Amino acid sequence: MIIAVDGPAASGKGTIARALARHYGLPHLDTGLLYRAVAANVQRLELDPSVEADAVAACDFDDSLLDDPMLRSDAIGSLASVVSAHPLVRASLLQRQKRFAQQPGGAVLDGRDIGTVIAPNAEAKLFVRATPNIRAKRRHAELRSHGSPISIDKVLADIRARDLRDSTRSNAPLVPANDAAFLDTSFLSIEASVQRAIDIVESRIARD
Ligand code: DC
Repeated sequence: MIIAVDGPAASGKGTIARALARHYGLPHLDTGLLYRAVAANVQRLELDPSVEADAVAACDFDDSLLDDPMLRSDAIGSLASVVSAHPLVRASLLQRQKRFAQQPGGAVLDGRDIGTVIAPNAEAKLFVRATPNIRAKRRHAELRSHGSPISIDKVLADIRARDLRDSTRSNAPLVPANDAAFLDTSFLSIEASVQRAIDIVESRIARD
């Protein structure tokens, strides 16, 4: 069984995908981390993220980079959004994600284009969303807890900029698959969001 979890930044998709993987005993891939690794590599090599050839040169990263906590920062997230708009960057990461999705026994993947491009044949597709204000509040609280002095207005502006860039790029934009089930986490606790996600997956399996 393949479970595709898509949605914008700080919607709760990562938490939900991890919980689903645990619940069903499936391997999980956070595909955003791959784009974040490219972004961190661009930075390390002092390349220009807006130049496609530069971003492509940064796609050849060492897998140990995926464990680096600096990948989780908002600055790298924004940079990841820039490099991910280049078609050749997406092409270079495509096979790795498809292979992960197609492994025997199934998988859970989260990202922006899982249900549309990486695993269009997924048995269950979720599109997780929440209002920009609520996502900014969550992200702000998380950054503050790590000691970051960033203001909520800046977090909200970053989220809006990332939403716009991710959903308007021409290649594999952030759009719900036609057969995705929407899960709005704006007014749900983590536990309630996860339960809702499990209910959706169960109803999809029962339908097939
Ligand atoms: O999910 P995240 O915040 O870690 O993703 C960081 C950026 O990577 C996101 O703004 C856009 C890009 N991304 C993408 O284009 N496609 C994916 N499947 C996952 C992430």
